[in-house]
Amino acid sequence: MDKFKAYLVTKQDRVCAAFTEMDESQLDDGEVDVRVEYASINYKDALAAIGRMPVIRRFPCIGGIDATGTVRASRSPLFKPGDPVIVHSHGFGVSHHGGYSPLARAPDGWVNRLPAGMSTLEAITIGVAGYTAALAVELMELNGLAPDKGKVLVNGASGGVASVAIDLLSQRGFHVVAATRKLAERDYLMGLGAAEVVDAASLPVGTRPLESAVWQGAVDSLGGEALAGLTRTMQRDGVIASIGNALGVEFTTTVMPFILRGVRLVGVNSDNDRALRDHLWQRLGSDLRPRYLANIAQVHPFEELPKMIDAVAGGQIKGRTVIRVQAPAA
Ligand SMILES: NC(=O)c1ccc[n+]([C@@H]2O[C@H](COP(=O)([O-])OP(=O)(O)OC[C@H]3O[C@@H](n4cnc5c(N)ncnc54)[C@H](OP(=O)(O)O)[C@@H]3O)[C@@H](O)[C@H]2O)c1
Repeated sequence: MDKFKAYLVTKQDRVCAAFTEMDESQLDDGEVDVRVEYASINYKDALAAIGRMPVIRRFPCIGGIDATGTVRASRSPLFKPGDPVIVHSHGFGVSHHGGYSPLARAPDGWVNRLPAGMSTLEAITIGVAGYTAALAVELMELNGLAPDKGKVLVNGASGGVASVAIDLLSQRGFHVVAATRKLAERDYLMGLGAAEVVDAASLPVGTRPLESAVWQGAVDSLGGEALAGLTRTMQRDGVIASIGNALGVEFTTTVMPFILRGVRLVGVNSDNDRALRDHLWQRLGSDLRPRYLANIAQVHPFEELPKMIDAVAGGQIKGRTVIRVQAPAA
């Protein structure tokens, strides 16, 4: 590939992102070259591109923390040209050029072959967000989550992680309560399998160390005071999967939920080794396969990337914001 157009994040006085002409020699090292078909805009990608948080750890950096496509060239025994793959997490789009480019190069440990029968569009609709939701579901079930024990809250419900989490939990028989600031998205959320949709502002959070016990489980994309409220309102032996910080980083609570109710606060981090990534991607292609990816995907052409980054940063999106970088290989 000669020259190509990539979306590069740079920093001089301030962080700036723009389409820039680049060539192969400017890519970082790695064993696998991927012809990128789709990338996505995660919350983290939006923060990185507008410089709201110090997400990028090496400038300049092509943004995009996940991408799908086919292997163009491989110097790894694990992949061969033509393999359909996804690249995500670790340094991708953060300290190593990422997916907003028709050509990406990554270490083989960051690349997974797609499960049989999964298209590159389906895989990017899951993306790092859906992978993280699947990890959360697995960790919560290992910690005792079961459909007959009560309701599971998913907050930031119209977002990417939450949309896939609602789909996964509802298909496993859980009574899912979707909490959102966007009540206009009620039909969308019910369509993913939510049993109830509630206004995020109406959630009982309280101030006492222990409030009325409401939830057996919670998938938390928000952090901050939302997470604090969850600790106070969990049932005995309830499980919270802490995934994100869309609302805040710090939270204040007491040890009481943990020592008097046995509440389990489980950290979820998508930077996993190959064995766990392979395991979860296989599950996402089989018993954890999302049912409503076509509803969750909002697909936009590559040229609309800057506009859609602003929309994601402003919390104006629903589901997964997918960017079609170039047409899938014939
Ligand atoms: N741990 C990991 O490895 C990992 C992996 C992926 C993502 N994450 C994190 O998980 C979080 C969600 O990621 P995502 O890609 O799903 O983001 P997203 O698609 O932008 O969704 C976030 C949702 O949170 C809600 N929200 C946003 N700003 C808010 C605010 N100021 N106050 C209250 N609610 C707000 C909105 O939902 P409503 O409007 O419906 O309320 C929004 O749709 C992010 O913090 C991200 O960094 C972590």
